[in-house]
Amino acid sequence: MLTTLWLLLSFAVPLPGFYVSFSCPNEKQCQRALLSDNDVFLPCNSSGSQWYFFLQDGTSWSHTLSSASNIEIIPDSGILIRSPLPSQTGFYHCQDKDGLQVVQYEIDFQDVSTLHITHKGLGQKPLRNESLSLGGKGIIFTRWEPWQDCNRCGGLGERKRLGYCYIEEPLQEPMPCWLYLGGRKVWSSRMRPEMQVDACHVPCGMSDYVPFDNFEITEESGSVWLTCPLGSVYRPILWEADNIPLTWQNQLSSQDLDTILEPSNGGKQLRVFQPAIYKCFVQQELMARFNPVPFPGTAETLREEEGGPHRGKGKTQEGKASSILKGLKLLLLLGMVLGLLGVLLKIFHPSQGKSSDQVLLVK
Ligand SMILES: *[C@@H]1O[C@H](CO)[C@@H](O)[C@H](O)[C@H]1NC(C)=O
Ligand SMILES: *[C@@H]1O[C@H](CO)[C@@H](O)[C@H](O)[C@H]1NC(C)=O
Repeated sequence: MLTTLWLLLSFAVPLPGFYVSFSCPNEKQCQRALLSDNDVFLPCNSSGSQWYFFLQDGTSWSHTLSSASNIEIIPDSGILIRSPLPSQTGFYHCQDKDGLQVVQYEIDFQDVSTLHITHKGLGQKPLRNESLSLGGKGIIFTRWEPWQDCNRCGGLGERKRLGYCYIEEPLQEPMPCWLYLGGRKVWSSRMRPEMQVDACHVPCGMSDYVPFDNFEITEESGSVWLTCPLGSVYRPILWEADNIPLTWQNQLSSQDLDTILEPSNGGKQLRVFQPAIYKCFVQQELMARFNPVPFPGTAETLREEEGGPHRGKGKTQEGKASSILKGLKLLLLLGMVLGLLGVLLKIFHPSQGKSSDQVLLVK
């Protein structure tokens, strides 16, 4: 329910704080590799600004940015690109009302479906450098982002870092692969973005208020997707099932899984096959708790929900169960509203948490 409200809210009011944002602090132009399929916000802080874009198929500057259905222009603030496609690699140019350039982003949206994932703890190795077989002397290599924060505190956690495909020619600055290639059609199995995972251990700070949601695994689907609010491939995320952390190490080393972290969004989504209490953390802050939907008539589940961790053992009458169910629904609604408030507070009061880290800056 919260997820639904959350989605509605994020579609209705695209607040930049909800999304991972990139900016060019002291420059008017910056080059950046990112992953496809993961939402980004590109700021352009100028009133009456206009956006133009230039994609690699050799088309000229055009206004047609607004015609791409996944790009939303937020007046005087920037653009929000939802689930960018690799084909949206190119130049995003923002002008002020007098036609002067405010900022230009050169973005290489690398295809997340080809993501190469390795875990240090499993001894898996990232991709090696390779020379570009294009007649030139270029080297294809991975340029790594800094490690993200540990996804868990007070215990063994995991951290990840993203690496993007770059090409370097002698005496030249390296460029993201597809910006380098432009319209040229070259295919190499080396040309892929990467994600590397490693174990980590950090002490805990303090915790915060937690929104919650419930979910149901139906017989037809056999599984359900949970989405972590404020989660992003660009932020550290942790999922727990009944307080047990779900790790990439486990996922990458075993076949038989009750849960699947979605690689294409860095584990923002979790696919679950078993009822359990799932929690997700972003930057070590508890973001949401997902409870299995209690089946109507199963009084024991309800008593458990009501009485906390104690197991209720007596038999409860059906009538009582339905009144508890009603009460529970009200509680859920209240929790939802409070949860939403909590999330909004988190966004608007960055001093209280680590939310200030949510805006990543381009060097
Ligand atoms: C946007 O520009 C205005 C005026 O230059 C400035 O006061 C404001 O702090 C800027 N906002 C951001 C988010 O950079
Ligand atoms: C791969 O290439 C990059 C860019 O030239 C270089 O910085 C890096 O040291 C190389 N790595 C290895 C293992 O050769």
